[in-house]
Amino acid sequence: MSFFEIEGGNPLRGEVVIPGAKNAALPMLCASLLTPEKCVFKNVPEISDVVTLLDIFDEIGAEVAHDFASKTVEITAKNIDPKKLATSRAAKKMRASILMLGPLMARYGVAEIFSPGGCVIGARPNSAHLDAFENLGATVTESPDKISVTFPHEKFKNNWVLFSEASVTATENLALFSAGVADEVDLFFTAAEPHVQATCKMLRAMGAQISGIGTHHLSIRGTKNLKGGIFELPPDGILVGTYAVASALTGGEILIKNVDHTELLSFYGAFKRTGANFQILKNELKVSGNQKLRAIPKIQTAIYPGFPTDLQSLFGVLLTQCDGKSHIFETLFENRFTYLIELERMGAKVKLLNPHQAKIYGPTKLSGANVQSWDLRAGAAMVLAGLIAEGKTTVSHVNYIDRGYEHFPENLRNLGADIRRIEK
Ligand code: EPU
Repeated sequence: MSFFEIEGGNPLRGEVVIPGAKNAALPMLCASLLTPEKCVFKNVPEISDVVTLLDIFDEIGAEVAHDFASKTVEITAKNIDPKKLATSRAAKKMRASILMLGPLMARYGVAEIFSPGGCVIGARPNSAHLDAFENLGATVTESPDKISVTFPHEKFKNNWVLFSEASVTATENLALFSAGVADEVDLFFTAAEPHVQATCKMLRAMGAQISGIGTHHLSIRGTKNLKGGIFELPPDGILVGTYAVASALTGGEILIKNVDHTELLSFYGAFKRTGANFQILKNELKVSGNQKLRAIPKIQTAIYPGFPTDLQSLFGVLLTQCDGKSHIFETLFENRFTYLIELERMGAKVKLLNPHQAKIYGPTKLSGANVQSWDLRAGAAMVLAGLIAEGKTTVSHVNYIDRGYEHFPENLRNLGADIRRIEK
């Protein structure tokens, strides 16, 4: 298993171009399973979650061609055999493989999958997806290691779903399913994250009628004749936040290119309250360090357009360098403070109040240590901590980071960081 070795202390300077978002890529690539026509995707990030998903598509018989140098992926799901998904071990590696159930069930009336894996960041029940499928008339069978869904009739039993929480992937899964069934449905309390919006816009371009995109109520009229096309993935806002925090922390200056500011407004609000120095330019963000950073009395994660849970750990590292006491309230996941325990080992002063709340006291000098990635975002947070720590930091379990951060050590090295990947 490989790890990263970082010698801290270098200010990061230069430019970085943001690729398409992981959390848009996964549902949008799955939408290609709804049509026998070719779908071409632009701006696809070269990350292991995308590679794993494409491997699964290949296993079930889709024609897949990728050229990561030009960030292009082509998928033609003409002759796929949905039964092959039931034996795909690759599906087990990635929680987002559950997103294949919706399109395959819409197109073939049946789908079966190994219970999905993924990052261990709290109780993430499949019920938001499966209860909704059942409500529309699907039969769902769940065993400890398999999920099967069947939808033998062409029409919904009920023409509505009310989600108990605005789950991102459950909204996407139900939108994918509904877009491929020749009937009408209303989905209530849907997630409105930019990647959910991008998925719905793709489904609309394929031929489904969808209204309410960007709200908590989607109305969808699906069709059995969805078309292929060329689809561009939106840029990854979490990567923007990551590089922005890296610049502020290290006292450098990074110009971040290909930025969609609308999805970052709550991040910008919190970033500004710390006193960080940044300029919003057209499709770009410039972040300069050497500022005096202040603590934030309370920062609370929330569904879009609130502060994204996926930036909470990165921001937590910034708070270790802010003067005063900050309070983080992680409202979504109950296991997203693992990075704080690792940060403590590097000298940070933190107090875990409960699984959802923690205090961070700053500023504290961090010292290099051997630390672990507990999940994708916790792992990236440890890398940022290593960049400002005195001495050497090693970050293990970087397979988590590789799931969502394209060329992370290479990009950081281009910006002046002393970081290398060591293969064990
Ligand atoms: N939740 C609430 N209230 C809500 C919505 C969600 O409490 O209104 C809680 C639930 O308990 C739920 C948890 O938050 O279990 C996660 O929410 P959700 O179901 O929306 O998460 P997800 O669909 O499993 C996606 C992303 C995650 C991201 C979350 C939240 C993908 C493939 N995954 O997961 O991304 O953290 O939404 O935005 O889109 C990551 O990229 O590191 C990652 C984990």
